[in-house]
Amino acid sequence: MLKIENLSRSFGGVHAVQGVSFEVPQGVVYSVIGPNGAGKTTLFNLITGIYTPTAGHITLQGESIGGMAPNVLAARRMSRTFQNLQVCMNLSAVENVMIGAHLGLNSRLFAGMFRWPGLIGADRVCRARAEELLAFVGCEKYIGLQANSMPYGALKRLEIARALAADPVILLLDEPAAGLNNTETHEVEQLIQKLADSGITIVLVEHDMKLVMNISDSILVLNYGKKLAEGLPEEIRTNPEVITAYLGGEMEGV
Ligand SMILES: Nc1ncnc2c1ncn2[C@@H]1O[C@H](COP(=O)(O)OP(=O)(O)OP(=O)(O)O)[C@@H](O)[C@H]1O
Ligand SMILES: [Mg+2]
Repeated sequence: MLKIENLSRSFGGVHAVQGVSFEVPQGVVYSVIGPNGAGKTTLFNLITGIYTPTAGHITLQGESIGGMAPNVLAARRMSRTFQNLQVCMNLSAVENVMIGAHLGLNSRLFAGMFRWPGLIGADRVCRARAEELLAFVGCEKYIGLQANSMPYGALKRLEIARALAADPVILLLDEPAAGLNNTETHEVEQLIQKLADSGITIVLVEHDMKLVMNISDSILVLNYGKKLAEGLPEEIRTNPEVITAYLGGEMEGV
């Protein structure tokens, strides 16, 4: 599904990502972990076209995508969420999700819409789909509400619903459980599992090691922009270099 080869990105003297290579097979949950500043978000920004690589190649479903713009990648059914909430607070929950369908310029959805007479029909189809997605992520009770009246945990799931509105084959989630309590984190874990079960390939950045260990098929560990380790959850959990990189902290008790 996704192939990363020798990917690098520097900001002045900061080598945020350095010569990173990995492959994500179709249908898996592939997690990227690492201490703060390790380059995880930069990696996502490179894959999703927000940053241009300094060096290296990115291939999506066999096609080279390095340097393509985010909207072009969205049309190729790559979707993402953001570490810091990117929600329009003055819009309703449904409207926020509808934006996702437009961002994705989902050709199949739009083809469906334009069979309807006029824009009102198109809006109705798009709105119905957005409501469906909000229910899917467990936000049905917020459907009619303004985003600014939703709790933080629900806004994190709203972001996932918006990403799904573009009908992705691959979904990149940047810390979907950040700031959530244990119950909410468990709900997000179940949601990610449900998405993976539906066939969407997931690339996950997350600091909650319990969630990562429970859900991942494979884990890549970044440290100072470089690949430190890659393997099965059990291999990563017991890897001495990984434990040292985390100084025990986040790996403790996992
Ligand atoms: N636009 C930018 N300009 C300059 N430096 C940047 C930029 N984006 C990231 N960096 C630097 O690149 C390094 C990696 O940052 P990045 O945000 O990718 O880390 P991260 O692994 O996502 O960390 P966290 O777990 O805290 O989210 C950091 O040193 C950061 O300051
Ligand atoms: Mg980050």
